[in-house]
Amino acid sequence: MLIPLEPIVISDLLHASPTLDEPRIEVNSLGKRYGDLQVFKDINLTFREREIVTIVGPSGCGKTTLLRCIDGLMPSSEGEIRIDSDVVRKPREGVSMVFQHFGLFPWKTVYQNVAYGLKLAGVRKTVIADKVPYYTKLVGLEGFENSYPYQLSGGMQQRCGLARALSMEPSVLLMDEPFAAVDAQTREILQFELLRIWGMRPMTMIFVTHSIEEAVLMGDRVVVLKGRPSSVFEVIDVKLPGPRSRETLAHPRFSEVREHVWSTLMDEVRAAEFEIER
Ligand SMILES: Nc1ncnc2c1ncn2[C@@H]1O[C@H](COP(=O)(O)OP(=O)(O)OP(=O)(O)O)[C@@H](O)[C@H]1O
Ligand SMILES: [Mg+2]
Repeated sequence: MLIPLEPIVISDLLHASPTLDEPRIEVNSLGKRYGDLQVFKDINLTFREREIVTIVGPSGCGKTTLLRCIDGLMPSSEGEIRIDSDVVRKPREGVSMVFQHFGLFPWKTVYQNVAYGLKLAGVRKTVIADKVPYYTKLVGLEGFENSYPYQLSGGMQQRCGLARALSMEPSVLLMDEPFAAVDAQTREILQFELLRIWGMRPMTMIFVTHSIEEAVLMGDRVVVLKGRPSSVFEVIDVKLPGPRSRETLAHPRFSEVREHVWSTLMDEVRAAEFEIER
């Protein structure tokens, strides 16, 4: 059922065109409050064309909130977000999100779940009939079109969520801990499949994760959010050679960046524990 993995040379793709350094998404002095709770403040980030940026930070620091602001699902309290120079005020075409907990409709089949966004966007039935099988197959769910989410494993449900996002052919893909709810082996398979799919159709991808390994493996850059309210503590240029594969995990640079991010985040955890003890 799984599609064979091809190695992907991310760095080659990144340097394939001189326009790739141009920012596609700009987050300027962004702040978000829920009532009295200031979640993050003064966030400044840019995301380039065909770039995978991973975001790590302690639970509750506002990662999901930040993605929702970029998606236009939630207004910010301060600052602005621009995509292709336009200020984001509502969800826009070309931006898709994969949610933290699958986000599938339990009463719809795989086919209907994947078709949902296309239908909503008013895409013609004949086009939907072409696209849904294509993306279902791309994520390795061929043959499960008529299954309901409860009949699928966690990994398959996540594949379905991914197919739904990809079927919109986004130029910006926002992923909120997409593999958090699947077992370690499935997670690794999905990571490399996502890189393979991305290699076929590179786009700007913002990928939130709790896994430092995943952040370093997937990201061209890793953004570390820290503090209360949180803000950008560090942006690390991963600079790992391509192709990203299982061998990447054994590369000295991989361990170097992983340890760096780990110690940065551990300082935060220790500080929080110290505060609790006091
Ligand atoms: N709709 C909401 N109304 C009020 N507070 C909210 C809302 N959504 C999130 N929060 C609060 O904002 C903070 C950030 O939440 P968010 O879900 O963005 O964090 P996160 O970094 O994604 O956490 P996790 O890693 O656990 O997914 C939390 O303290 C949360 O309780
Ligand atoms: Mg979250």
